[in-house]
Amino acid sequence: MNDTPERRETGSTKPFNGIAIAFAIAALLVVAYFAGRHYFAPAGHEAPAIASPGTARIGGPFSLIDDAGNPVTDEDFRGRYMLVYFGFTYCPDVCPTSLNRNMQALDLLGEAQAKKVQPILISVDPERDTPSHLKEYVGHFSPDMRGLTGTPEQVAAAAKAYAVYYAKVPGDDPANYLVDHTSITYLMGPDGKFVQHFRHDLPPDEMADQLRKLLG
Ligand code: NI
Repeated sequence: MNDTPERRETGSTKPFNGIAIAFAIAALLVVAYFAGRHYFAPAGHEAPAIASPGTARIGGPFSLIDDAGNPVTDEDFRGRYMLVYFGFTYCPDVCPTSLNRNMQALDLLGEAQAKKVQPILISVDPERDTPSHLKEYVGHFSPDMRGLTGTPEQVAAAAKAYAVYYAKVPGDDPANYLVDHTSITYLMGPDGKFVQHFRHDLPPDEMADQLRKLLG
């Protein structure tokens, strides 16, 4: 037995320390990754996609202001599918891309099916997205698209019902900010109930294929 107690000690603890350090580093990397995603994700990019099991609870009553300045609720859209997207008119990239994609998909359906669907943008930036500003904006995408806004409380309630995340990202000056937000499009049935969601990166032709099946 050449091992001194000292050597046995180092011999037995060294591998353990190595594994512990490796685990600690791995844990730190995981934490840093998620923290990075949360804090440094570019504004307008997507929060994690909602999981399918909870989607039955997506949607619900909302009470907002339409782009003509009139009060509007979800019940005003009964009888047609609602294609709902939450965004804001100052969004530099994701919103225009998603809204364009939604209209391209509806165009691919053809008029008969497309007219069953009401495309809607609900603003997550009620401070700047006034009804008239929204009306002009949605008109760039389609004369059929409706823009909805409201008080900050009304918008917050609608977003909560749809499990939509949004948060202001301050810019150089107080008037110049972005709004980070969920970029999922929701299809709600003529009864107002959730049907399906579409990720922002789903191509228009694939979205049209899915819509075609869903609309019958
Ligand atoms: Ni956006």
